[in-house]
Amino acid sequence: MARLSQEKINEIRQSVDIVDVIGEYLPLEKKGRNYVALCPFHDDTHPSMSISPDKQIFMCFVCGTGGNVFTFLQKYLKISYIEAVKKVAEIGHIDLSEYHLDVASAPVSKKNAELYQMHEEAQKIYSYYLNTKLGLEAKTYLMKRHFSDELIKEFQIGYAPLNQTLYPAFSKLGFSEIDMVKSGLVIESRQHFDRFQDRIMFPLYNQQGQVVGFSGRIYKPTQTDSKYMNSPESDIFIKGETLYHYHQCKEAVKAAGFIYLLEGFMDVIAMYKAGIENTVAIMGTSLTKGHIQALRRITHSIHLCLDGDAPGQAAMGKAARELEKAGFQVSIIVLPDNHDPDEIYEQQGKDGLLQALKKTLKPIEFLMEFEYQKIDAHNYDDRKSYLEKMCYEIAKIKDPIDQDYYIQVLSKQSGFSTDLIHQQIHGMQPQFHQETVASKKKPVHMMDKYQKAEHDLLFYMLNHKNVALKYEAKAGFMYNDQYRIIASYIIDYYRHHNHLEIADLINSIQKEDLVQTVVEIAQSSLPEKYEEQAIDDYIDTIGKNAKRMKKEQLLEQFRYILDPKQKAQILDEIVKLGGQ
Ligand code: UTP
Ligand code: MN
Repeated sequence: MARLSQEKINEIRQSVDIVDVIGEYLPLEKKGRNYVALCPFHDDTHPSMSISPDKQIFMCFVCGTGGNVFTFLQKYLKISYIEAVKKVAEIGHIDLSEYHLDVASAPVSKKNAELYQMHEEAQKIYSYYLNTKLGLEAKTYLMKRHFSDELIKEFQIGYAPLNQTLYPAFSKLGFSEIDMVKSGLVIESRQHFDRFQDRIMFPLYNQQGQVVGFSGRIYKPTQTDSKYMNSPESDIFIKGETLYHYHQCKEAVKAAGFIYLLEGFMDVIAMYKAGIENTVAIMGTSLTKGHIQALRRITHSIHLCLDGDAPGQAAMGKAARELEKAGFQVSIIVLPDNHDPDEIYEQQGKDGLLQALKKTLKPIEFLMEFEYQKIDAHNYDDRKSYLEKMCYEIAKIKDPIDQDYYIQVLSKQSGFSTDLIHQQIHGMQPQFHQETVASKKKPVHMMDKYQKAEHDLLFYMLNHKNVALKYEAKAGFMYNDQYRIIASYIIDYYRHHNHLEIADLINSIQKEDLVQTVVEIAQSSLPEKYEEQAIDDYIDTIGKNAKRMKKEQLLEQFRYILDPKQKAQILDEIVKLGGQ
């Protein structure tokens, strides 16, 4: 079997567009000739990853991660280089069957296979029972709530009967009792029995769309247990990473450009009834880092619509702040009379719901309303503490026009003068400013003029074969270790090509730190065109540096060597090098 040559690897790379591939994983925004995204390789709050369609490379200006399409997949999916090559070949429809690729067969985790299987089985069993006589009353309940058969199928809703179903079925299928209990679907006390009984069952999925848990709802007035019962956390069901409808909403989110973040899955389903599919629900828990990370992968714009009661509103303010801090654009929707989307849909139909969703508030507007409601406006201390709280929030607003606007609003509302508010805010700003600047900026590497000459020369070597040849003939050396190695890769590349594709050069280098440096050099904002004189100057500077380094070395030797004859020789060499 043939081995994958460098040429073949380049062909595979060229079969796809890096913008499309990264676009599958991250929401991209066009900015000039490039695209930008929130960088998934550090805690990014402003889009700092840039993807160049011209050069077919990506780079994060904050954390420095960069490379070609293989580098991205390798890092993002945490796979090996050869696995990334195979994946790209698949996307680009390049047949690799004649190649022997030394990859351990896909690392399918066998670990939790039984747990996934049991959930799949359970979902089928529950679905079956909903359409039997045992499930008739449950089905009637669903019909009353306007669940069509299509909807029931779409959300794979089922029914867990009162009698034991899963335990005997799982036993027959040969699952061990230990695994059954581990799945959370079966409970063990004196004997084993089904956790969910006589409830309408909503499957919960992981981010890949596998069933990993259930939520069961009561449906008869005689049932007095808690309204919803959820699966306990298990090896496959992690609540802090679970967003209802996540794996089904991606297309719609892409099309709409934002997502609705809702409280419960009934709200997701109500929105679906109204034709809105760019939705997920956190299911009554608070927003976690895991949720935020999952959301970041599909959008950077969120319309928050959580429950409208007091704790719901407090949760909404908190979630909005966290999402904004994480770099999302956030709007808040407060539905009339504290209703949830499902209730609005039931009372006012599709058009009523669409209308209600239109009224969005900026987080600051929401916060001002929410906090103001809580105070007694006639009490001076209340108003003062309200003022201080709001100044703190307004100080964070970056846009000066927006900021001025909310200062006016606050002044009218609180009765304190705009001058005073300005003063308050003025005292707070530098602190915020420092915070953002410090957390954003990559430490600047101080480059001396020699290093800069090498750096810039490399930029032109990447872009012009002539320059690389000139470097080889006239200098052939760089003092910076990384730059020297990169220069030798470039020279080597031009032995077989007249034009250099940076994304292909990366294939031959592979070493992570070198790749990052190459990408950084390639992306530096130097004019593409060059003048011969500038190149000569770089080479001259590099030459001078080489001499300077050599002289320093000789002086060092001169100090330590005692033999007068040798000393004289060294001195002679130093003189020959001339003064710099
Ligand atoms: P809600 O009480 O808002 O329910 O809980 P809902 O979505 O309006 O449902 P219906 O219309 O009464 O049927 C929101 C979410 O909180 C979780 C569920 O995930 C639900 O989707 N929850 C609620 C529970 O886990 N247990 C409960 O007892 C109640
Ligand atoms: Mn409801």
